[in-house]
Amino acid sequence: MSARVRRRVGKCGALVTLMALATAAGAQPIADPLAATGRWSVYAHGNAPLPPMGWNSWNAFTSDIDEDKLMASARVIVESGLAAKGYRYIDIDDGWWLKRRASDGRMLIRTSTFPSAATADGNTSFRSLTDRLHAMGLKAGIYSDIGRNSCGQVFTSTFPNQPEGSVAEREVGLYGHVDQDIALYFAEWGFDLIKVDACGIRGLPASDPRVRAGQYRALDPLIDVDSLGRTKVAAVRALYEEVGQALVRHNVDNDYVFSLCLWGSADSRAWSKAVGNMSRTSEDISPTWNRMLHNLDSVAHRPLYAHPGSWNDPDMLFVGTGEFDMAHPVEARSHMALWAMVNAPLMIGFDLRKASPDLLAILGNPQVIALNQDPAGNQAVLAYDSDDVQIFVKTLASGDKAVAVLNRTATATEAMLTADHLKYLADRPITLTEIWQGSVLTFTRERKFTLKPHETMLFLAKGERRLANGQFLSEQPARVNPAVDGVLVPEADPQVHRTSLPWRGTRGGGERPQYGGWGGARLDTTPYGQALSVAGRHFDTGLGILANSRVEVRNDGFRRFVTQVGVDDSARGRQSPVTFAVYGDGKLLARSKPMRAGDAAQRLDVSVTGTKLIELIARAPAWERFPDPVTWGEAALLR
Ligand code: GLA
Repeated sequence: MSARVRRRVGKCGALVTLMALATAAGAQPIADPLAATGRWSVYAHGNAPLPPMGWNSWNAFTSDIDEDKLMASARVIVESGLAAKGYRYIDIDDGWWLKRRASDGRMLIRTSTFPSAATADGNTSFRSLTDRLHAMGLKAGIYSDIGRNSCGQVFTSTFPNQPEGSVAEREVGLYGHVDQDIALYFAEWGFDLIKVDACGIRGLPASDPRVRAGQYRALDPLIDVDSLGRTKVAAVRALYEEVGQALVRHNVDNDYVFSLCLWGSADSRAWSKAVGNMSRTSEDISPTWNRMLHNLDSVAHRPLYAHPGSWNDPDMLFVGTGEFDMAHPVEARSHMALWAMVNAPLMIGFDLRKASPDLLAILGNPQVIALNQDPAGNQAVLAYDSDDVQIFVKTLASGDKAVAVLNRTATATEAMLTADHLKYLADRPITLTEIWQGSVLTFTRERKFTLKPHETMLFLAKGERRLANGQFLSEQPARVNPAVDGVLVPEADPQVHRTSLPWRGTRGGGERPQYGGWGGARLDTTPYGQALSVAGRHFDTGLGILANSRVEVRNDGFRRFVTQVGVDDSARGRQSPVTFAVYGDGKLLARSKPMRAGDAAQRLDVSVTGTKLIELIARAPAWERFPDPVTWGEAALLR
């Protein structure tokens, strides 16, 4: 660190915490993380302007995958019309590999299950398979691990098709082979997507009995899923960034998808939006209602952490299986509707050879797919939140809204949908078109619904917007990126449904909050889920974030940015003044006076005409370990 930077940090009075901030998100230490950059920092490489859609082998077959099964599902995708509706990626998950060749480290394919991969020279190649998929108008995905070893080896070694050979030959992950493997998978074999798991940097400490027995090489775990403090966040991020750089090098056409699979660990919420195209937010889904809720909850409160180019991934669809099979159509439709609303990548996890017309109709519902693939890319925002009923609202590119009313419980329940939930005028007619059946109803003010157990009612909503000449930021999360969200000490999100894991049952003391994601940036609530309020004035919309934060807002033609700023009444410290500043393309446009808890909200009304990137910076003089929540009340862009 230079003397100049040291002096500047010294003035802030907290060198140590500034360093912590810089490394909390896994980045290199930087001078002033709150300096306006004029730059949108969401991942700009690869090809994922909309949530990727396709099919993946894991939920259907685990590692018992082969060429026939894969190609059969690919054929159904095309013949059933699902491909034309957007399902394009055909992804091979765990189980394709045979070994890493000792002589030159080249990865070899298991030709007993993928016969077309056999080549005369013994090199093996997936080129014939990817050529056939491409000729069908599809794209091809492959799977690897960021460590030396695979998830199958570490966690499900009784599953079929485990890598074979010596310790070194069984090291099939990317670790130490990033450039070689990415060149092989993309430049030589022609894949279009890679899912990179993280079991190899999680499960093989020197103390592991298999390591002690000489079966695997030890890799000091970088991830401890039970402890953010023990996880080496910066090191994990650096490994994934290395893969990203290789992907750019070996995909001259930029046509790839980089899918991160580290299950919400390593504080990935903070950084994966700058590193890859989609990022898992939780451990694996299973085909049960409660587990689906768990995975849904891992994304539900973080719409500001997903954008075109980089999506939250609550894991693949289990529509068609278990509690989402065709004997449970209500649950199957709920799962599908919710994944569509939160902009989850839609990856079918079903053996499509066995798909019934009913199942294909759910997976292929064009209106539901259209919600997921809406070009605005806004993940639905929670307009009403409880453990029983949730109301998700998603603003579409057309300006209309989609609304999902979810009954999480196993009993029928009533829910009231109000004009306020939709940010529509209460005294003007609101028209709801039910998406699965097409029925239409109109109401003013509020409308009561009775929901079946586990039902999600899904509507397209038209009404008169409360803000006629613009949009609240909470209506457009896709254009709002909390580049620095103020979180210095990542904490596990306690708002994720804690269902007992099928593979663990009730052994142990209970399920613990696990995924970094408590605090940070939220819409229409404070970072900890409370109502937005400044000096007793309540705001039903706005951006809730922590002090010492910097938010990027993409602008395309709005002329004014208006808001009411202040320290939120939920602040605990209540001593540090916070200054709110608005920048346009790196230049200061407006700044509030220093504001303390209890000061009335100050209105900022800023011309942003011609500005491409607006930055909202809330700065406190010191880097507190637990910064106070601040509120950008009624934050809106106006035409
Ligand atoms: C992990 C991933 C799954 C799947 C398996 C394969 O558990 O989270 O999605 O890829 O590994 O072993």
